Amino acid sequence: MTRLSVNINKIALIRNSRGGNMPDLEKIARDCEAFGAQGITVHPRPDERHVRFSDLPMLKNIVTTEFNVEGNPDPRFLREVMAVRPHQVTLVPDGPQALTSDAGWDTLSHQAFLQDVIAHFKSVGIRVSIFVDANERFVEGAKVVGADRIEFYTGHYAKDFANNPIEAVEAHHRCAILAHDLGLGINAGHDLNLDNLPYYKAQVPHLAEVSIGHALVCDALYYGLKNTIQLYLKALQ
Ligand code: PXP
Repeated sequence: MTRLSVNINKIALIRNSRGGNMPDLEKIARDCEAFGAQGITVHPRPDERHVRFSDLPMLKNIVTTEFNVEGNPDPRFLREVMAVRPHQVTLVPDGPQALTSDAGWDTLSHQAFLQDVIAHFKSVGIRVSIFVDANERFVEGAKVVGADRIEFYTGHYAKDFANNPIEAVEAHHRCAILAHDLGLGINAGHDLNLDNLPYYKAQVPHLAEVSIGHALVCDALYYGLKNTIQLYLKALQ
């Protein structure tokens, strides 16, 4: 089974654009779970244009499935996430000005840093996943630094899917087998949508979780949140 974790950053972005509390992030998170989502993901960035660090304790209190916090482990992220203790933290190497994440970690050149950060989170029982491109060297590096899981960056897959799906997924298939053999859990995310998700799920073995935000929120404008979540769950069957 592959769990669907709904990334609610875009909901927070809409809320923040008017300064009030509409849409209400707490209600959305509760409803996503009621509609079948098996996790809630947020990605606090230094400028807090999406979810805010102050949203994290509330979300930790109300999420009953799996609460995943992703982001670049700068000192503030480390402090705030350690205090909240989500079920999973996903380390992402995006810069402070990044529009969105567009690459995974080079787990070899950041080995010492990642080892420290991962040990820190694991010491309080938080599962740690690290965002990587589908590249054997970085998957092996993820094992060396002590990650529990990897999250494959699927942006390139999504871009290439329309032209050549077989080639687009090939490295993910290979690296998933390697990761599983190394004892790493496998997550995936970025630019996954209702078109490219079923093929990804069919071709990538041992896929534990996908986190999906942008396309899911866009689809919800047409289909409604409940139908949309059901459609994504179906795509993962
Ligand atoms: N995984 C990571 C590490 C991300 O940074 C994001 C975007 O915040 C996602 C998954 C979800 O990507 P999308 O919004 O394109 O579904």
